[in-house]
Amino acid sequence: MGQVIVLGSLNRDLVLHVDRLPGPGETLTATGSAEQSGGKGANQAIAAARAGAAVRMIGALGADSSAAVVLDPLRREGIDVTAVRSVPELPTGLAVVSVAADGENSIVVLPGANGDVDAREVAAARPRRGDVLLCQLEVPLTAVAAAAAQARAAGALVVLNTAPADSAATAVLGDVDVLVANQHEARLLAGREDSLEAARLLAAEHNLVCVVTLGADGAVAFRPDGEILSRQAVSVSAIDTTGAGDTFVGYLATGLCEGRDLAEVLADAVAAGTIAVTRRGALDAVPRRGELGGNHVDHHGTNTPATDSKDSHAHRTQQ
Ligand code: RIB
Repeated sequence: MGQVIVLGSLNRDLVLHVDRLPGPGETLTATGSAEQSGGKGANQAIAAARAGAAVRMIGALGADSSAAVVLDPLRREGIDVTAVRSVPELPTGLAVVSVAADGENSIVVLPGANGDVDAREVAAARPRRGDVLLCQLEVPLTAVAAAAAQARAAGALVVLNTAPADSAATAVLGDVDVLVANQHEARLLAGREDSLEAARLLAAEHNLVCVVTLGADGAVAFRPDGEILSRQAVSVSAIDTTGAGDTFVGYLATGLCEGRDLAEVLADAVAAGTIAVTRRGALDAVPRRGELGGNHVDHHGTNTPATDSKDSHAHRTQQ
């Protein structure tokens, strides 16, 4: 099996637990706090490693005390971080994450060194046939575009998670094999109000598989020929949605790297993301593959997409 090569962000997450998310101009008192490793790239790398992949992380950190906080958990998972570049003149990326009692979150990110990811990281990626290149949008789109083109030319599979949402990402879809978007991202990319119609269009227009995540309702995958696979999530009580989408994507990338059937891969990704919302934190919440058994549902839905409901409370911002 090839490697999952993650080109993406590394952040230090400052997490504040609050009863509810603040409104504009409002000051709230937090009930607790935590500092931990984060960033969509790093979270997805950890998820891919816990799903069983050999993972290489490509990205940039500041030369500050946060760098070790962010890198150590990746090292502990056996992720190759030798190509993570230190940028002395910029801080390590920082995310301030508010998590409400119902599991909902809001996140503000200072990119710091993530904004310096460029052709050096693209050169370091070195994808080969059999590898999966996995990118998100917390590093410059120019680097994502160049890495995707390089991976496509090398015969690697390109998986793009369009988080955070950016309509400019349509420019890179020509080099993407599997697009993973939440409902908001899918609508924005396709310019459609219905997220499932948006996903169908994106798949057909860009000749890719478009996976749209539906939060507590699971996920649906659209193939370019119109075939649809859907997977329901089991109902759980969410306590922290942070990183649940990243868990989903890391598991999906690993399953694809293993060459497994998309329906099976989708089932594992939904099960892993569902477990993640029942635990606190981003990295800490990511399950190991052996934990997935009890969270599979029997129903293996094909050609039965869920309705285009609003993202439910359970993992609204993540999946
Ligand atoms: O997806 C969750 C992540 O988004 C957090 O870890 C935070 O760092 C932001 O990048």
